[in-house]
Amino acid sequence: MKIENLREVAFRELERVRNQKELNSFKVKYLGRKGSLTQFLRKLKELSLEERKTVGPIAQKLKRELEGAIEFKKKELEIEPSLEFDITRPGQKPKLGHLHPLTKVEAEMRRIFLAMNFSVVEGPELETEYYNFDALNIPPYHPARESWDTFWLKLPAAKSGKLARPDLLRKSGLGKGQKLLLRAHTSPMQIRYMETHQPPFQIVVPGRTFRYEATDSTHETTFNQMEGLMVGKDISLANFKFVVEEFFRRFFSGQKIEFRYLPSYYPFVEPGLDVAIKLGAKWLEVMGAGMVHPHVFEAAHYNPRDYQGFAFGMGVDRLTMIKYKVPDIRLFRSGDLRFINQF
Ligand code: FA5
Repeated sequence: MKIENLREVAFRELERVRNQKELNSFKVKYLGRKGSLTQFLRKLKELSLEERKTVGPIAQKLKRELEGAIEFKKKELEIEPSLEFDITRPGQKPKLGHLHPLTKVEAEMRRIFLAMNFSVVEGPELETEYYNFDALNIPPYHPARESWDTFWLKLPAAKSGKLARPDLLRKSGLGKGQKLLLRAHTSPMQIRYMETHQPPFQIVVPGRTFRYEATDSTHETTFNQMEGLMVGKDISLANFKFVVEEFFRRFFSGQKIEFRYLPSYYPFVEPGLDVAIKLGAKWLEVMGAGMVHPHVFEAAHYNPRDYQGFAFGMGVDRLTMIKYKVPDIRLFRSGDLRFINQF
């Protein structure tokens, strides 16, 4: 074979090499003791001096080139291991994420309320003092404001009127001079909804809420609530009792539950109460509630003589803790996969 042909055949073959084993055979085939290039070099001495002078250096050069190319290929194969397809190899399961336990429980709560003919609505997490407090019958001097440790926002631009997106702020009802905060409960949506809708209606409002408080196993600075509001004619606490008990029976399906209604105080309801449930041996407080206060109806431009309603606010984190027996609320937002992967 001519040396040029040998070069062409060899390099074309090297290109098809797919793994280290094939690379070894290739090396033996061309550079081994009986390899074709070795043979070729050995036969050089049979040629005339003239021929040796021209072919000899070309063959030596090819030998060096092949050695170099083999080294290069070897490294390439190490980086990109065999491209061969092993059909007996078990498949690799793609890692999929899943819903967070709080998301799951919120979804379950939405589902139950939808099935009970409630609508689900959402509201802004950035609120004004007006919706979070004043309209809910909690004026600035009211001592009950202390019950909601609030994250207030510093917005110097709001004072000077130089806002980056005044249109967005106006749209969300945040005007110039309004004090802004992270909503401390979902109750502001009671007002927002009533401002734009007429009774009768029944809604729930799931969402994130924020409080500036010290954390412990049952308190977080960010947590989820679900607000409920039902307004119409002749709505009474009996309706409330039915709705709440029906909800919990569905939520803790099959488990025996007892209910306890305790007098409580929230400025936006009258009378106000806390609901506790007994699951197993323990009584647990699960929500604040009551009949909508006339001042709240007035703030929403309803005539309190025309309508009655009940409202409630539940802690979604606490219900999730009860449902999944989670000992510490801080686990939910810890980002610890050892916890999250258990759901
Ligand atoms: C309220 O926030 C009222 N808006 C509830 C309400 C609505 C009453 C409508 C009457 C009518 P309270 O501060 O108690 O109330 O919070 C309600 C629930 O949120 C509590 O029962 C608890 O489950 C949960 N919660 C309150 N603070 C925290 C916290 N720091 N971390 C986790 N959950 C909390």
